[in-house]
Amino acid sequence: MREKLEQIKAEALRQIESSDALEKLNEVRVNYLGKKGELTAVLKGMKEVAPEDRPKVGQLVNETREEIERVLEESVKKMERALREARMKKEVIDVTLPAKKNNVGHRHPSTIALEEVERIFIGMGYEVVEGPEIERDYYNFEALNIPADHPAKDEQDTFYITGDILLRTQTSSTQVHEMEKGRLPIRMIAPGRVFRSDEVDATHSPSFHQIEGLVIDKNITLADLKGTLAEFAKELFGEETKVKFRPHHFPFTEPSAEMDVTCFKCGGKGCRFCKGEGWIEILGCGMVHPHVLEMSGIDPEKYSGFAFGVGLERIALLKYEIDDMRLLYENDVRFLKQF
Ligand code: DAH
Repeated sequence: MREKLEQIKAEALRQIESSDALEKLNEVRVNYLGKKGELTAVLKGMKEVAPEDRPKVGQLVNETREEIERVLEESVKKMERALREARMKKEVIDVTLPAKKNNVGHRHPSTIALEEVERIFIGMGYEVVEGPEIERDYYNFEALNIPADHPAKDEQDTFYITGDILLRTQTSSTQVHEMEKGRLPIRMIAPGRVFRSDEVDATHSPSFHQIEGLVIDKNITLADLKGTLAEFAKELFGEETKVKFRPHHFPFTEPSAEMDVTCFKCGGKGCRFCKGEGWIEILGCGMVHPHVLEMSGIDPEKYSGFAFGVGLERIALLKYEIDDMRLLYENDVRFLKQF
């Protein structure tokens, strides 16, 4: 009997020794110590043992049981500790690792250009105002000397909401709103979105931005217009920039002109950038038409003024030498980040 118990114990310890998982140890417990286990089987065989030997055998069985239990318990603890340590090693956080960079956006080149233009005019004492993108025909056309049958209306065909309400084609409508307020003098710029039914290409878009300018005061002359816009061009494109005014026609100004600046790439000699011209057109301008003043309730005998309109995208494209306007609308961060 002693030998049998020794054998059971040896076998149990061997199995414990070779267990590599908690489940295996549990199997050993069931197989040796459980109700149907080997030691229980030995106890059940006690009736074959002589009565006087039974206490001794019983004690031996208990000792064996205790020994197996002790070793088993130790192994379980050891294995649990090893598992815990392995898990902690796996979950370790390296606090010295650089943190993930937060992806912040970037100011859009059109925004940068707008802020630059605003800075220049605010520096000259102008106010920045805004007008509505949805306009009445009156503000967009009629009050700017473009009556219903005027050919200029065709050129700026647009998106009509009703016969009378439309998406503005030009920020010039803000001139009328400012003049109607009846507060003089006026020195304002009005940046904003405008709409035209144009196809998208490298230089056109159905929606783009303009910056309108308007000055109305006593004794404002063409000299004020020229001086102001020449200063603007210098601040925007560089001190050496020269300007040239070409006669043009706008219904709401008289006389009207388009202003060119010397190419800031070649200084006016002519290059690929200015298409050999040496000059680049950047804005429309003129002296506010007396009839326009009158329609908005300003006496043209007492007051005069000048106005101008610049395409914002055009400024951004020129300033940053971007050759396709569509890039400004795609908002690809890889592109925007460069400015
Ligand atoms: N509104 C004109 C356009 O969209 C631009 C313009 C020209 C505005 C002359 C003006 C101006 O204020 O005086 O083509």
